[in-house]
Amino acid sequence: MKVDVLLGLQWGDEGKGKIVDFLGKKYNIIGRFQGGPNAGHTIKFNGETHVLHTIPSGIFQKKTKNIVGNGVVIDPIIFSKELEKLNENNISFKKNLFISRKAHLILPTHRYLDAASEIAKGKKKVGSTLKGIGPTYMDKTGRNGLRVGDIESTSFTKKFQSLTKKHNEILKKHYNYKNPNQKKDQEIWLKCIKSFKKLNIVDGEYFVNNKKENKILAEGAQGTLLDIDYGSYPFVTSSNTIAAGACVGLGIAPNKINNVIGIFKAYCTRVGSGPFATELFDHIGKKIQKTGNEFGSTTGRSRRCGWLDLPALKYATMINGVTELVITKIDVLTNLKKIKVCTHYEYYGQKINYLPYELNTKKITPIYKEFNGWKENITEITKFEKLPKNLKKYIKFLEKEIKIPIKIVSVGPDRKETIYR
Ligand code: GDP
Ligand code: IMO
Ligand code: MG
Repeated sequence: MKVDVLLGLQWGDEGKGKIVDFLGKKYNIIGRFQGGPNAGHTIKFNGETHVLHTIPSGIFQKKTKNIVGNGVVIDPIIFSKELEKLNENNISFKKNLFISRKAHLILPTHRYLDAASEIAKGKKKVGSTLKGIGPTYMDKTGRNGLRVGDIESTSFTKKFQSLTKKHNEILKKHYNYKNPNQKKDQEIWLKCIKSFKKLNIVDGEYFVNNKKENKILAEGAQGTLLDIDYGSYPFVTSSNTIAAGACVGLGIAPNKINNVIGIFKAYCTRVGSGPFATELFDHIGKKIQKTGNEFGSTTGRSRRCGWLDLPALKYATMINGVTELVITKIDVLTNLKKIKVCTHYEYYGQKINYLPYELNTKKITPIYKEFNGWKENITEITKFEKLPKNLKKYIKFLEKEIKIPIKIVSVGPDRKETIYR
């Protein structure tokens, strides 16, 4: 059994969905290992656009099996909607979609707790996707959570009611928060649980380990800088988004991990709050946002844009043990006269190339290296050698700095707009 991991090296939305779909055929199993419907993974082919939140991005490959691992948190309502969309598009999933019994469930009250917590934080809010991610992982680590396997138990409704009651007490006493839709939300949730029961629910750890010849791709959600331990805490998500998370979130031993494919945008984006050293507040930032269509796949919020940040990228490759790189959205930089890359920071009068503990952007000043841009439309180019000279210079500089080969260059959102070196 061989496992590769593909994950984001920035703040999410690096184009993971597109590349997992592109590589999907090479694997017989694709597994999501963390996160939940806070993710939005976009896949484009044959003129169609699909956005997945919980379902792995290998679902469009006929021969590939897909598993939602134990590390994922699932909202049965959002999951049902995802399945409905697949049905509408004639994408079959009955035989190739599996769900781990040990994955935790997001209850309607988890969503309310997420909202109430954000309201209470005011200006200091995380800018969460409001999908209930944080509260669900809190219940998991607090040993109170409901898991997919519990659906099969006769006492499931009782367990659901008991946890809901506990949440309502916190909502009332601590937050003075009440959601007027609770009754209806619960009805829909319980209805979705009924149809959820009919899916292929498996012991995920046995499922992935059952065959020696299994070739598995673990699909990350979010990005390294949103990792609960190594991200820009507290402005992070509540799971381990890094390569190590794949072991825990799928039941895979560390010695089975082969390649770690790290994916990054040719620039940086971030949704929600938190430090972003190379953020652009000028017309160039606006231009990148517009050309790159930088609006959240899950929440529709506009993504903050900025230049590529090498100290952060190098940090991410270190934490993940990245063996190969994928650069995406390089086409978005076409027509910019100058392209900048942050190579170091100035921090208390010193030039540094690491991420300091205190990620206070008032104390960190990016030091940039400037590159000349290009004007040629590159989206139809299929060979690396044919790319504009200045673009190749930019990529070669990055490879030399990061010391890891860039194996895939993505030049557009479509599956076809991908250059494999
Ligand atoms: P993910 O969360 O990492 O899967 O990324 P998202 O799907 O949230 O965001 C990436 C966005 O960029 C999507 O709209 C993709 O269709 C799009 N995209 C992916 N790769 C490229 C690329 O190389 N060029 C352009 N222009 N768009 C891309
Ligand atoms: P994909 O998989 C970008 C961000 C939120 C917020 C923080 C915490 O599509 O790359 P949460 O709802 O997880 O408690 O929010 O994390 N965030 C993402 N940003 N892409 C994502 O997923 C994200 N998932 C969460 O905006 O700042
Ligand atoms: Mg996304």
